Amino acid sequence: MKILNFGSLNIDYVYQVDHFVREGETISSDSLEIFCGGKGLNQSLALSKSGAKVWHAGAVGAQDGAILIQELEQFGVDTGNIKRLKNKTGHAIIQKNQEGQNGILLYGGANQEITRDQVDEVLSEFGEGDFLILQNEINEVGYIMEQAYGKGMRIILNPSPMDRKIWTYPLPYVEFFILNEIEAGDICQKSGSGRELLDQLAEKFPKAKVLLTLGQDGSLYKDGQQVFEQKIYPVHVVDTTGAGDTFTGYFIGGLSLGESPEQALDHAAKAASIAVSRAGAAPSIPGRDEVMRSY
Ligand code: RIB
Repeated sequence: MKILNFGSLNIDYVYQVDHFVREGETISSDSLEIFCGGKGLNQSLALSKSGAKVWHAGAVGAQDGAILIQELEQFGVDTGNIKRLKNKTGHAIIQKNQEGQNGILLYGGANQEITRDQVDEVLSEFGEGDFLILQNEINEVGYIMEQAYGKGMRIILNPSPMDRKIWTYPLPYVEFFILNEIEAGDICQKSGSGRELLDQLAEKFPKAKVLLTLGQDGSLYKDGQQVFEQKIYPVHVVDTTGAGDTFTGYFIGGLSLGESPEQALDHAAKAASIAVSRAGAAPSIPGRDEVMRSY
């Protein structure tokens, strides 16, 4: 079974601020740090660091994207399906406040230049039973899902960042939803407690397994047989950027290595807590040895 992540690759510009900039306001930042990022790249790194073999597909700018490809290759990710385009590499402008929380503005760049020809070419290397992981930071997500489902691939969707394109995707094809409360509420078009949202999603997508993340309250998992909750491992928060991606990568990586959902979820929670205790997205993702030694 192979794991394909068709996802975004960004350069993250992280500005340390006293508070998030408000409408009409100009503020100075205390520092600027530049990291590899993008939900797609972060999840591929987390998968690979969890011990899984992962193939990443996507697009970067030929002039400025080499650093992202090098980062993935350094951690064993297959990058043969990343196109180098004339457009600029995607980037994120990230404000990080004193509590380590963030506000993110994205520029899609090459991430929004995926063509159907590229999709067809990439998917020709994958088949029945292979995992496909998607987020919502590239174009053609709906087409990728249609084609992959037709080949019998197992689709994992992290519908982040949420926007109205989600409604155009064939959501009943999703085997695993990994999402937070706000995304779940948007998809169900209802608000409610974590348990209520979990039940709503399960009712709306009866074949899907759902992993709902609840911030400080941990996460909830539900599939046809079981429901269980996972607590967070509390740490001093330095930077939450990329913690959700670490969690997603470790959870799917664990399942692909034969862990039970319960074990994979515990390891994912440990990995995410280590990630929030460090700065940056990609550089904060721990390796499996460190996760297994922790707590
Ligand atoms: O999930 C964190 C990521 O979101 C950042 O790395 C940034 O690039 C945005 O895509």
